[in-house]
Formats: sequence, C-alpha cells, structure tokens
Amino acid sequence: MPDLAWQQCINPKCRATYDVGEVLHQCPQCGNLLDAAYDWEHLPVPKSLADFEQRWSTRRNPLDFSGVWRFRELMPFAPAEKVVSIGEGQTQLRPSPTVEEYVGLQTGRLHLQYEGMNFSGSFKDNGMTGAFTHANMVGARRVACASTGNTSASMASFAAALGGIKALVFIGSGKIAFGKLSQALDYGGVTIQIEGDFDDAMERVQQVSRQMNIYLMNSLNPFRLEGQKAIMYRVLEGLAWQPPDWVVVPGGNLGNSSAFGKAFAELKQLGLIGRIPHVAIINSTGARTLSALVNDRGLEWNDGNVDDTIIDEYYAELDKKGIRAVTLASAIEINRPVNLKKALRTLAVTSGVVREVTDEQIVDAKAMIGRAGIGCEPASAASVAGARKLREEGVIAADDTVVCVLTGHQLKDPNVTVNYHSAQGEAFRAAFDKYGVKNAAFRNAPIKTRNDLNDILAVVEQS
Ligand code: F0G
Repeated sequence: MPDLAWQQCINPKCRATYDVGEVLHQCPQCGNLLDAAYDWEHLPVPKSLADFEQRWSTRRNPLDFSGVWRFRELMPFAPAEKVVSIGEGQTQLRPSPTVEEYVGLQTGRLHLQYEGMNFSGSFKDNGMTGAFTHANMVGARRVACASTGNTSASMASFAAALGGIKALVFIGSGKIAFGKLSQALDYGGVTIQIEGDFDDAMERVQQVSRQMNIYLMNSLNPFRLEGQKAIMYRVLEGLAWQPPDWVVVPGGNLGNSSAFGKAFAELKQLGLIGRIPHVAIINSTGARTLSALVNDRGLEWNDGNVDDTIIDEYYAELDKKGIRAVTLASAIEINRPVNLKKALRTLAVTSGVVREVTDEQIVDAKAMIGRAGIGCEPASAASVAGARKLREEGVIAADDTVVCVLTGHQLKDPNVTVNYHSAQGEAFRAAFDKYGVKNAAFRNAPIKTRNDLNDILAVVEQS
C-alpha cells in the first residue's frame, strides 16, 4: 500500500513528496503544510457513495462500525491491521424546525450535524482515529498536543483506551472549559499548563515534540485531517448522498474546514459527487484572523501561491499591539491557526466565505440549539450564528440546503450555559462583560421558591 499513498507538500512551487511512514509536521524543504495524497487510479474506489451502505450490514466488524473507517477507501493510507478505532463517528444529522426558523430557512432546509455524539464529546475523535492509526504504523509510544480542550480530551481518551501510550497535553492557563479539562485529567493525560494561551501552547508543543521525538496529534498532522473528512461523508449519507448547498463550520485552528475542502475536492475528482457545496467558515470577532486576512486584506489561495507577506505583517501587528484572542467560545480562541493555508484552499475549492460573529450572537444561537433539544458548546454555535448572518446578508437563500456542524457537546462548557440562563446583575457582568455580551435574549432562569406546597403549586400554575 505505501506506494499508493504518500505525503505531499501543498505548496505548488515545492510539491515535495515523502513516504507515508515518515513523521513530519511540515514540509522539511519549504516549511509548508503536508497532505496525505493517493494514487487513486490504482486504488479500489467505489463506483457510487451508496456502495458504502453495505457496511451497515457488517457492523460487527469494527472497521465497518466506525463512522470513519467504513469509508476507508477514501482515506487509504493504512493497512487494515494497523487501523486504531474505538467506535468513533456515531453521529447524527438532525433536523430542527426551531433552529431553522431562527436562521431564516424554509422548512426542511436546515440540518445540524451533531458531532457532540462522539465518545469524547466532540468531532476530534474523527481525526484522532486517523492520527492514532498513523502513530500505530510508525510505532509511536508518546503522543502530544496543544489544545483548547477537545483535542486533548480525545487524544487522552484514545491513549488510555489503547494502553501503553503516554499522552502529553499542553494547555494555556485558564483557557480551557471545565468539562474538557476534567476529561484529560480523568483519562490520565499528563496535563502541562503553560502560562499563556493556546497560540503559545501550540508553539511550545511543536518545539517539544520535535526535540524529544514525540508524536504530534494536532491538526498539522495530515492523517488527522484524513479522518475528519468522514464528517462530510456522513453528512452526504444523511442527505441520501445529495450535496447540500452550504456547509457552515466554526473556524479555530482551521483543521475541520481544511479537511472538508479536501474531502469534497477528492469526491468530485473521483466522480462521486457532481457538485461541491460552499463551505462557510465562521470566526468569533474576538479571534478573527481568517476573517481579517481574507475579508480585510484580500488573502487568497491563488493556486497555492499564497502571499506570505500579508500573513507575516498581520501577525507582526498583533504582536506589536499585544493583541490576543479573546472569546467565550474558548474552543476557537485562536489567533494563529496552523491550517490557515489549507483553509484558504478550501475557500477556493468550494467558493466559500468567511464571516465573524459576536460572542452575544454565539450565545444566543447556542440557546436556540439548546431549545431544539440538542445543545452544543459555545464554539459550535458559531456555525448557526454564522448561517443566520449569511441568511440576513442574502448570501444563503431561504431555500438553500444548509448543514451547520455542531462540533462539540453541550456538557463541555456548562458554566457559559448556566451563567447565560441564570446569572443576573453583577454576576452576569462578571461572566460576560469581557466578551461584550450585554444581554441573554433567550434566558431561562430557575424559579426559586420556598419549600411549601402552596407556593410550589402557585409557581407551577404561573409557569
Ligand atoms: N469547535 C470545537 C468544539 C473545537 O474544539 C474546535 C477546536 C473548533 C470548533 C475549531 O475547529 O480547529 O478545526 O477550526 N478545538 C481545538 C482543540 C483547537 O484544541 O480542541 P478547527
């Protein structure tokens, strides 16, 4: 199999290739990102996406049960015996009339891809199965990541389930939601809290893993993104293999958006879809690097000839002004997204767009997703807030089919939810002022009452 799959630099001026068995974070020759690449002509690719449905009947085979590996012909970098799977990707495409109305779409047009259903509670499990499979191929025993919380939860969970693998988690101080921190600690991850934020932790983990030869699990790792392509395969499956008009996804480190663009480009190349959906990537206004670079400064993929000076100047400005990412959507509190260039490629391939939404728009959208009986963590709700914005702008039409990816489970960050619904006055300001959230439009506070039956009956009567 190795000669049918390899690693390849995304820079068209370089295009260097490397063996699939090498452990690389970036192209050793030019420093750009790497893709997993395939010789599709000599690989067994199904004639139609519907062929994958046959796997449903053989789900006792762990590879067929996995919501990632049952699409293994579309990520053929590993021999079957090396695949590491613990049942990831059992997720749902859910309709929601409540959210549909909130976004402003016609009946039946909105779908929520609920990745919180993964066993570690976020989409990361899709990618981790890919990266752990590669780690298994190269015999890695120590793995590391920087994280805003979900990558680390997923990595620590995989490492613990497999056994014999040490998981090193790098986090910024005070920058991780409690639900996520509790997971890494519970799963036995060695958690290293650095004075600084995610961007600092990301820089350090790369240095440490290079120097100490530790396997890096962040989405710089091309094999993680191979697994995350499966989120889009399942979306297509949920839509009876008809591509939607739009896929809307929060943008943080930009791994998901990068993976989605690659998935669609490959499916089109293989003739398995006729049309590529638009991908909309949504930043928080407090962590708006992609939006600033694309919308304000005109940065584009440009067939791979990305103008690095625009990026370098922007980062130099951030440093000079001491600007750090600040958003209550802590999962996407990132100013230096490592997959920036691949996300630009996604925008080009999918004729996609980038938007930013305020934290108040995020928490209101989150409350509506909660009212739909689904719920999600704050960062995930950026997708719905972004879809609403694009609908208001008329970029998305009322009869377009729209998929919003809900990246993480509601229980990841209960503090934001409880504060939104119940904090008042000073407590509300303490929780939200920093993020510019002035009001909770869909508040649902607990009603307090004495422990007296008549009082309780009166409360129930009035509710
Ligand atoms: N939503 C959630 C719930 C996330 O955890 C993340 C990223 C994103 C969206 C952004 O996705 O990076 O692919 O653009 N979380 C990473 C982490 C950074 O460390 O858990 P992206």
